[in-house]
Amino acid sequence: MTRKNGVSAITELHTPAFVYDENSILNNLSILSKFRESFGCKILFPLKTFSIADALDVMTPAVNGFSVSSLFEAKLVREFLGYRGIVHITTPGFRPDEIEDISKLCDYISFNSLSQLKRFYHRAATQAKCGIRINPQLSFVEDCRYNPCRKHSKLGVPLDQLCAAWQSKSWFVKKINGILFHTNCESKDINQLLQTVKHIDKTLPELFAKLSWINLGGGYLFNNQDDLAPLAEAVNFIKNKYDVDIFFEPGKAIVGEAGSIVSTVLDIFSSDGKDIAVLDTTVNHMPEIFEYQIRPEVMQESIDGKYEYILAGTTCLAGDLFGEYQFSRPLKTGSRIIFQKVGAYTLVKASMFNGVNLPMIYARTQDGKFELKKQFDYEHFLSKCGGGTYATV
Ligand SMILES: Cc1ncc(COP(=O)(O)O)c(C=O)c1O
Repeated sequence: MTRKNGVSAITELHTPAFVYDENSILNNLSILSKFRESFGCKILFPLKTFSIADALDVMTPAVNGFSVSSLFEAKLVREFLGYRGIVHITTPGFRPDEIEDISKLCDYISFNSLSQLKRFYHRAATQAKCGIRINPQLSFVEDCRYNPCRKHSKLGVPLDQLCAAWQSKSWFVKKINGILFHTNCESKDINQLLQTVKHIDKTLPELFAKLSWINLGGGYLFNNQDDLAPLAEAVNFIKNKYDVDIFFEPGKAIVGEAGSIVSTVLDIFSSDGKDIAVLDTTVNHMPEIFEYQIRPEVMQESIDGKYEYILAGTTCLAGDLFGEYQFSRPLKTGSRIIFQKVGAYTLVKASMFNGVNLPMIYARTQDGKFELKKQFDYEHFLSKCGGGTYATV
């Protein structure tokens, strides 16, 4: 692909396309560099947010490792990281047939429950450092679908239950080597993290004193060093009292604004008095749009533009819609529509519903070039449907 810069180049990409910007990712990671260097807080990038292999490779020098949620993600990381960096895993359900492989690939395992810790400890602890995910029972998220500390949460051992287990002195509780908590979602207030740390310390100080690592999870958004002042306070609070390694694993803060979906208008028609523009993408390429009912930012939108359209996805679902948008010039078949700030939880959740192909993947590289990284095709769809080479297995 020839060198192209700026919007005019984006408009020439094959669509639908997912474009990620390496500079944006590296700039966001550089905000955390002080924490790695001066505070000794280790940064892990969570693959659940974004897992394009070449991009993870670009991130590698700026992080201490990655956090994963499954055997496949652990394998993917080790494929390009080798044994250079740290891999941490947590999932609500470890499988008995995977635990050995997982413990070979991962340095840290946070079991989600005391029962899983008890069941798998001996098979995992020869290779990995074992701890648990805790639910500090301190809620900050209103929408319970995204609240890890909701009532009857499935995520982590509730702190009151852990206190009781602690008193019982069960053998497996004594084996806890570290803890993970991830309790927030898109919060811009990192004071909530500091509050959480102090809350756990106050409730179960004997636990902190025994640990060799603490993983603070992700769930926070930040734009600069100033936003991170409470993180510094939380890290100092812990380090002044305890001798532990501290991990922080922000996802959306690193890649959220670094990704765009570029699409093309396939058709325009009127329905009950409104103009519908059908695009060659779908909410299934960015499922959180539908799940959260978010109206994504469109680069070409003009707030007081007099041409209004409902931007619609290309699948059969009536609700496959992005919303109503104004433009200063009329759209036509072939016009480009660019959805911005959709870097996180996009392709990792995308599906081929209706057999619609996945977006091509392009990197906007550090020197401003657009580089094609991946093109999906019928073979991917065929193998997903059980056909092709997999059909004979
Ligand atoms: C354990 C854990 N760590 C990190 C993250 C990343 O969160 P975010 O992308 O909101 O920073 C998540 C997201 O669900 C998570 O569950």
